[in-house]
Amino acid sequence: MVLMSVDGMAFNKDPILVTKDLTKRFGGLVAINRVSITVERNSITLLMGPNGAGKTTFINVCTGVLKPDEGRVIFDNVDVTGWPPHKVYSLGFVRSFQIPQPFKSLTVLDNVVVAMKGYGEDPLSALIRRSWVKNEEENIEKAFRILKLVGLDKYWDLEAYRLGAGQLKMLEVARALASGAKLVALDEPIGGTDPRYSTYIFEQLSSIRKQVDVTFLIIEHRIDVALKYADKVYVMDRGRVIAEGKPEEVVKNPKVIEVYLG
Ligand SMILES: Nc1ncnc2c1ncn2[C@@H]1O[C@H](COP(=O)(O)OP(=O)(O)O)[C@@H](O)[C@H]1O
Ligand SMILES: [Mg+2]
Repeated sequence: MVLMSVDGMAFNKDPILVTKDLTKRFGGLVAINRVSITVERNSITLLMGPNGAGKTTFINVCTGVLKPDEGRVIFDNVDVTGWPPHKVYSLGFVRSFQIPQPFKSLTVLDNVVVAMKGYGEDPLSALIRRSWVKNEEENIEKAFRILKLVGLDKYWDLEAYRLGAGQLKMLEVARALASGAKLVALDEPIGGTDPRYSTYIFEQLSSIRKQVDVTFLIIEHRIDVALKYADKVYVMDRGRVIAEGKPEEVVKNPKVIEVYLG
C-alpha cells in the first residue's frame, strides 16, 4: 500500500527533517549544542530529556521562532535555516503550542475548516458565489475526513470548549493537518499524569500516521508511556544529544539512566 498525504500526494522516502550541528546560545548559556538529528518521514520520533535540556529551544530554532547561532535545518529537502516562522509553517512544519488554542466557541468542524490553507485569503473569489459554495463544500468534506482520522468526527457539531483535554489536543492535530502539515511538532502533549490520557493521545497519533503521510516529533520529558509508540528516540541533556536509537535500546543506555535516575 502506498501512503498518501492528506492532499493525496505520493510518499517520498527522504527524511522529513535533518538538523546538522544546530547551536543556540543565550548569552553564556549554550541552550542547544551541535544538535544533529534525523526525523524519518511518517515516523513518531520522540525528543526526551529533563527540564532545561534544550528541547523547546531546539523546536523553536527548527521552526524559525529563534535564529540559530550555528548549524543547518533541512526540512522536506529545503534548507530553511533562519527562515521566519510563517515560511517554515507554510512549507508544512507545524508546531503545536503547549496550550491548545482552538477557538473555543466555534464548533469542532468550523475549527478545522478555518485552519485550512487559503481559507478567507481570497476576498474576490468569495464574491463569485458559485465558486465559493463549491469551495465551501470541498472544505467541509475534507474537514470531515480529517476529523474521522483524528477520531473526532462524531463530535463535529460540538463547540470546542465542550471537548476534554485529550480531544482538544487531537483537535489541534486536526487543525495542523488541515493547514497542510507534513511534520507536526508537539511540545509535551501529555502534560498531565493520567496514563489513560497519554495512551489515548499516542493511540490516536499511531493510527493517524498509519493512514496518512504525516510525521510526529514529540517532546516529552517522561519516559514511560511514550516509549511504546515511538520509532526513534533522541535524549537530550544540557543542550546535547546524549543518546539516540530505538526506545528499547535507549532505556538501557547508562547515560540515559543516569540522567533520569541519577
Ligand atoms: N529565551 C531564553 N533566554 C534565555 N535563556 C533561555 C531562553 N529560553 C530557554 N532558555 C534556557 O535554555 C535552556 C534550555 O531551555 P528549554 O529549551 O526550555 O529546555 P526544555 O524545553 O528541555 O525544558 C534552559 O537553561 C533555559 O533556562
Ligand atoms: Mg520545554
